[in-house]
Formats: sequence, C-alpha cells, structure tokens
Amino acid sequence: MSSQTSGVLAKFLVVLFVLVGVFFQLAAAMPVEMEKRDVYVPPILYPHAGTVWYKGQRHNVTWDVSDPPVNITNKLGRVMLRKGDLTSPLILADGFDILLGRIEVTVPWVVEGSDYSLVLFGDSGNFSPQFSILQ
Ligand SMILES: *[C@@H]1O[C@H](CO)[C@@H](O)[C@H](O)[C@H]1NC(C)=O
Ligand SMILES: *[C@@H]1O[C@H](CO)[C@@H](O)[C@H](O)[C@H]1NC(C)=O
Repeated sequence: MSSQTSGVLAKFLVVLFVLVGVFFQLAAAMPVEMEKRDVYVPPILYPHAGTVWYKGQRHNVTWDVSDPPVNITNKLGRVMLRKGDLTSPLILADGFDILLGRIEVTVPWVVEGSDYSLVLFGDSGNFSPQFSILQ
C-alpha cells in the first residue's frame, strides 16, 4: 500500500518535472519567435552611463547597426528624451534612416539631472543608459 502510494507520487513528480521543463523551453523559445518578425531594436552606444551633456551642445547619438534583419518593418527612427522612468514629449530627432547608426541632436534646455536617457524608436523603443544633462 505504502509502496504503491510512493509509486504514484514518483509518477506525479516525473510528470511535474516534465511540465516544468516544457514551460522553460517555451519561455526560452519566445524571444526567438520575436526576432523572426524583423522587429529591429538596435542598442544605443552613445550616450552611455557617465556621459555628461550641456544645454545647447550638439552630439551624435550612435547605435549599433551591425546586425540588421533583411526586412525592417519601420526604417524611420525617432529619438526621444526620458527622465527617470518617464518618456518626455520631447523629440530630439525624427524621420531619419534607422540604418544610419548615428544622428546629430542638440541638447535641449531642461532642468539639470543625472537620470536622463534616450529612447530610440524604430519598430519598438530601446533605452540608452542614464546620463547627465547640465546647464
Ligand atoms: C557627427 O558625425 C558626423 C559624421 O561623422 C560629423 O560630421 C559631425 O561633425 C558629428 N557631429 C558632432 C557634433 O560631433
Ligand atoms: C523580404 O521582403 C521581400 C519583399 O517583400 C521578400 O520577397 C523576401 O522574401 C523577404 N525576406 C525575408 C527574409 O523575410
């Protein structure tokens, strides 16, 4: 009786482990599915953590274009400013070719802070690390 119970328990545990394994395989497969849709989100290289910009300066925002998909859904890029966890309505550049890898922007006159970041939009948004804007 008790050995039968432990046999059932062992089978149950095997099924449970298989289910958990299937779940993790599915979870691991999901990013691959996303990549197949040609959603292109190149990582921002500059500005990076530790960058300091001053109001009115011009800088080249740069991003990695080394591995673009064949068919990009939206080739036009837009750079927006973020502060903390909020994307501001401020557009720094718009309508440029996402495959350029850089776009020159003018640092806007905003309150000083070290929690600014940029969002590069193509198909989707990609955040830069946080950096500082001073006056
Ligand atoms: C941005 O890059 C372009 C091309 O390399 C260069 O001509 C321009 O001077 C750069 N702008 C700044 C602000 O560095
Ligand atoms: C890219 O788009 C072209 C034209 O729509 C199509 O013929 C081609 O099969 C696509 N390539 C890939 C890898 O999706």
